[in-house]
Amino acid sequence: MTTILRSINKHTTSNHLIVLAYKNQMAAFASLLTETEQKIVQKAIDRDIKQLILPQLDRFIVIEIIDAADNRPALEEQTRCTAAKTIAIIRKHHLEEAVLLDYTNDNLSASYAEGIVLANYQFLKYFKNKDTLKSSFHTLHLLEELISAKDIALLNIVFEGVCAARDLVNEPLSFLTAVQLSEEIKKLGQVANFSVKVLDKAAIEAHKMGGLLAVNKGSNDPPTFSILEWKPAQAVNTKPIVLVGKGVVYDTGGLSLKPTANSMDFMKCDMAGAAGLIGAMYAVAKAELPVHLICLVPSTDNRPGVNAYVPGDVVTMYSGSTVEVLNTDAEGRMLLADGLHYAKQYDPELVIDMATLTGSAARALGSQGAVFMGTASDQTKKALLQAGVETHERLVEFPLWKEYAEQLKSDVADLKNLGGPAAGAITAGKFLEHFTAYNWLHIDMAGAAYLHHEDAYRTKGGTGYGVQLIYNFLLNYTK
Ligand code: BES
Ligand code: MN
Ligand code: ZN
Repeated sequence: MTTILRSINKHTTSNHLIVLAYKNQMAAFASLLTETEQKIVQKAIDRDIKQLILPQLDRFIVIEIIDAADNRPALEEQTRCTAAKTIAIIRKHHLEEAVLLDYTNDNLSASYAEGIVLANYQFLKYFKNKDTLKSSFHTLHLLEELISAKDIALLNIVFEGVCAARDLVNEPLSFLTAVQLSEEIKKLGQVANFSVKVLDKAAIEAHKMGGLLAVNKGSNDPPTFSILEWKPAQAVNTKPIVLVGKGVVYDTGGLSLKPTANSMDFMKCDMAGAAGLIGAMYAVAKAELPVHLICLVPSTDNRPGVNAYVPGDVVTMYSGSTVEVLNTDAEGRMLLADGLHYAKQYDPELVIDMATLTGSAARALGSQGAVFMGTASDQTKKALLQAGVETHERLVEFPLWKEYAEQLKSDVADLKNLGGPAAGAITAGKFLEHFTAYNWLHIDMAGAAYLHHEDAYRTKGGTGYGVQLIYNFLLNYTK
């Protein structure tokens, strides 16, 4: 994470200031300005200018005018986007830190801080001259009277989780193999204090995880199956909540190869489901939320090696069910199925899987949200939707009507891994449902995982989608 949030009692005349205010609120911060400045600022505000930067004797004052919004989530999202604009101007002037003054009386500090931290995120690991490319800005100070030091600490933790997820997604296969992903998980576990157990290829073979092994057959690198656990003494749940993340560190499509130029270039993002859940796990454990949580990450790359699994193969899955493989590019469901079956041993309260599973989900919503479906109660689904609204990691429910299962019938096996040309996100969900036997939610975030162009505080590349969604869902669950 490039930016830290810090608690401060009061600001001095040498602190750069960021003023957040509604259009009619200049009187509230007029005392910071000279009379001439007040006139200039008022004129600008009257002309509907939303952002001003004023150089004063020892500091800059950045003024950001916030528009009224219809509802709280819209106001918060506008505030995050405003912060992304502040970051642009702050970097241009090479400021290193600033104090936020929120005059809106609407407690927008947390949303604004989120926009600052996430817009200022950078992934510079592979640049030779990373020091010169690095953003000047590193600390946002927040006044204790507006937001408590404890809440600031929690914000830092959650944004660390988001940035960790972005880093994992942005890492190419040349670094982030399945084994390396497990190593990164262990490092995060050490910082956040969750336990990590990694099944290596021999253990995965001993468990007969046929779906994961089939996808791995074409690879030079071994698969891993990581088991993350956070078990606090005072957990509100007796049965654990289990998360299962698709950890395909690179998806070529296998022998059913993807076309190179348009769809393969960014397929390092195919572990974004796992990354989002790992980031959420990090935040939950570091914030010490009282919830017993387990996260499973089946991981491999998907490649057309000489020994690769082929269309027509019949695979015996970890559950014992057989699957006719009709497209090796439908690999995510193969390893998720093994993860979902593994979850049964915990007698879970709820299982949530998250995956960049289908182009169909990405085509349905673009990058603006994710689709979900599942067998959990309406109340649980409502809670997930609510967390999506609160965090602006929005969701839409797709149906799991039984008729869709027809498309997965195989002539030679219990089911096939490919549905028809339509409703691809749903038939993928139907496939996964076969391997569940508990309350279950499936999130297909193929469109939201990775951006080809920056979008306000969502930087180009990995978005970290899902970290705040799952964290907030679990936070609300503990209340
Ligand atoms: N990883 C892809 C899905 C994907 C698409 C992720 C776009 C991110 C952006 C997945 O493994 C895949 O290839 N799905 C196929 C399934 C099909 C062969 C049934 C798809 O959606 O085309
Ligand atoms: Mn694929
Ligand atoms: Zn994939």
